[in-house]
Amino acid sequence: MPFVDRDFINDLPNRVDIVGLINKRVALKKAGKDYKACCPFHEEKTPSFTVVPTKQIYHCFGCGESGGIIDFIMKYDHLAFVEAIETVAGESGISVVYDQTAKPVDMRFKRYNKLMEELSSFYQEQLKTSAAKKKVVDYAKNRGVSGSIAKRFELGFAPPGWTNLFDAYKDSEESTQDLLKMGMIVPKKDKKDDYYDRFRDRLMFPIHNTKGSVIGFGGRVLSSKDNPKYLNSPETPLFSKSKELYGLYHCRKYSRKIDAIIVVEGYMDVIALHQQGITNVVATLGTATTSSHLQVLSRTAETIVFCFDGDKAGRDAAWKALQTSLPAITAGLVIKFLLLPEGEDPDTLINSESAKAFNKRVDEAQTLSNFLFEHIKAEVPFNTIEGKTLFLEKSAALVNLVSYPIYQQQLIEGIAQTIGQNITQVEKAIEQNIANNTQHYYANALEQAEIVNQSFQTKPKRTSPSSIKSLMSRMISCVINYPSLVNDPETSSVIEERARKLPKSDVLVELIRHAQVESDLSKEALLLPYKSKERVYNRLKELSVMEPFLSEYEAKEEFGYTLTAAEKFYERKSTKASILSAKTHDEEKAVMQDIMKSKVSATRQKKS
Ligand code: GTP
Ligand code: MN
Repeated sequence: MPFVDRDFINDLPNRVDIVGLINKRVALKKAGKDYKACCPFHEEKTPSFTVVPTKQIYHCFGCGESGGIIDFIMKYDHLAFVEAIETVAGESGISVVYDQTAKPVDMRFKRYNKLMEELSSFYQEQLKTSAAKKKVVDYAKNRGVSGSIAKRFELGFAPPGWTNLFDAYKDSEESTQDLLKMGMIVPKKDKKDDYYDRFRDRLMFPIHNTKGSVIGFGGRVLSSKDNPKYLNSPETPLFSKSKELYGLYHCRKYSRKIDAIIVVEGYMDVIALHQQGITNVVATLGTATTSSHLQVLSRTAETIVFCFDGDKAGRDAAWKALQTSLPAITAGLVIKFLLLPEGEDPDTLINSESAKAFNKRVDEAQTLSNFLFEHIKAEVPFNTIEGKTLFLEKSAALVNLVSYPIYQQQLIEGIAQTIGQNITQVEKAIEQNIANNTQHYYANALEQAEIVNQSFQTKPKRTSPSSIKSLMSRMISCVINYPSLVNDPETSSVIEERARKLPKSDVLVELIRHAQVESDLSKEALLLPYKSKERVYNRLKELSVMEPFLSEYEAKEEFGYTLTAAEKFYERKSTKASILSAKTHDEEKAVMQDIMKSKVSATRQKKS
């Protein structure tokens, strides 16, 4: 994502017409110097939403929502910050000034975008004109896809034949290479410069990014005899399965207010739900839900409802989504689970029951904590003492993944209630679990990393760090071996800042600074400044031997996870200390509120 120039951002609200921009979206009525309307952010019958042009702000006296034009567009159009800046500027005829020091937008990306749009148009055209179109049109009709929904999702047809795309572009070496980069053609085995089309004789689903550009495709076979049933674009410079969600662009475009967003598994689920008027829906692209997905989802809605098939695979997927969700929970974010009846998916269900009935299921979806407790309960012989102990151990490991203190505390109370013990006993188990839980944390984190790099599976087992000190050692070891981990100009200052906030982090912070100054420092050069401090020097030399040895990529992941683990460890300790130091209930409440405030502002900062 490009960086927008700071001054431009600060100045933009003064250069645009807030009334005009809002009026395009919500009909405003003049009221004295100001303008009024019924608030788009909550239900009301008499207008309490006010736009004050002299101050360039809006405010709702009903729900308290307020801000400047950028806030409004982010909220109303469901956009991220930079996207909102681009929208406001675009609609006001102003060109965005990008930060000159940031990397220039690569020309290749413009070519890729254009190519993907061309291909999408080609496939859509084929749906209307191909000699073989009858079977695909029949197929879509059979599955109840209407013409207008096909148009909304820009569905297309990749005609039969091995080289339709390749032949169309083969005269240009650059185009051929672009097709290859976009994963649309595949090299023939042992033959140089000879390719065949990846998608043949399939119903095509273009995948859009949040701006609406086509970045990849999914293709479904038309006959159950063919396989694989679905083929997706591979990872390309435009498309990454672990980041993108199918239907997000359409969800934002066709939903007025997105209170809750439903996450389903398939393309056809998204399309079938839209067809019945349920537009607040996205699908993962044949992968598990990742933390990047969660970030995007939590920006879009305050409630995320994971909707999975009711079979074993669906339950497993839901459990995985729960584990990924725990670290992402923050103030104001609610995560729920909807497991459908066995044998049904949203597509089949919405074609056999009303949208109202489906929405009722969504409204009544299980809370995350409820699902968590139920799931673990079913895994242990709960009615025995041993079973309750196991329940406590298993849930403690999960509670430690939560970084939002208030939610963590609520889960602890929930566990105490479920097993009929007091909170102190549960907290003790959790403290104990911290000592070896980093291992669970790694296991989960590694699972995530697997999506990016399958080679993780063969990695030697890690030892489990048990205190802030050993977490610190681990990070130092990574930095000494790969100083390049911390000298990316875009991230290193953030890393330095995060490290600085940890206790006993002086040496780590110093190393990070040295590594930033010069990228190609040898281990020896990095340690040189410590030569006079014998004890530190010897310890650093010990740490420079990496055990087990990690590749640069692995070390980068490891460093990231360890930093987060150290933050969690420290945060939990200090939260507990301040809660313990509170003497009255009111003081305790005040401490909790403080923690919540700092959490909220921290997540806000992250989001912008
Ligand atoms: P249909 O209703 O049969 O069209 O499929 P679905 O939408 O119910 O999908 P299903 O539950 O079978 O799979 C969910 C999602 O997983 C699909 O939308 C695809 O993204 C992905 N998927 C399914 N089958 C395959 C496959 O054979 N290969 C790949 N790569 N992905 C698949
Ligand atoms: Mn299906």
